[in-house]
Amino acid sequence: MTTIGAPTQIRQVEVADDFPGILAVYAANNWSHARTPERLRTAVERADLALVAVQDDVIVGFVRTMSDGAFAVYIADILVLPDRQGQGTGRELLRTVLDHYPLETFHHQVLIAERDADGFYRRMGMSAVGAFGLTAFIRTQKK
Ligand SMILES: CC(C)(COP(=O)(O)OP(=O)(O)OC[C@H]1O[C@@H](n2cnc3c(N)ncnc32)[C@H](O)[C@@H]1OP(=O)(O)O)[C@@H](O)C(=O)NCCC(=O)NCCS
Repeated sequence: MTTIGAPTQIRQVEVADDFPGILAVYAANNWSHARTPERLRTAVERADLALVAVQDDVIVGFVRTMSDGAFAVYIADILVLPDRQGQGTGRELLRTVLDHYPLETFHHQVLIAERDADGFYRRMGMSAVGAFGLTAFIRTQKK
């Protein structure tokens, strides 16, 4: 994996070494995944692509995807340590993911935007599905 723009390195996850740092990024953002580390570790291990952003040997960001490797990719989670947000790390992580699944062959790159993050995805050139006359459907635990 290439290094993109020092001092932040974007590289593929080495689960054994990186998992504590990844867990810390989820915990710092108060994401529920951090309450079930074994399940989160499974999700990281089974990701099609899992990347960390590293600054000064500290994992400051993480992204993981699920994909059939041919037509579709689902960007499951992307998150950055709160005190490192707004410094371009999310952009570096998402850009690397989007470039990894080129639209010359992949039909779509999809995700579900949490809370106030939709502006970030629009800034990254993504569109809400309604812009294409599409509707996304979901079943969820969330009330
Ligand atoms: C969303 C998140 C991953 C973005 O990462 P980040 O490192 O803070 O974002 P960046 O600094 O790379 O921002 C890239 C661009 O998006 C913009 N942006 C970032 N977050 C935004 C937001 N919530 N709303 C609108 N624009 C946003 C930035 O201003 C920047 O714009 P620019 O090109 O004009 O400079 C990060 O804020 C985060 O971890 N949030 C908490 C977890 C979360 O909600 N994840 C998304 C789940 S769907």
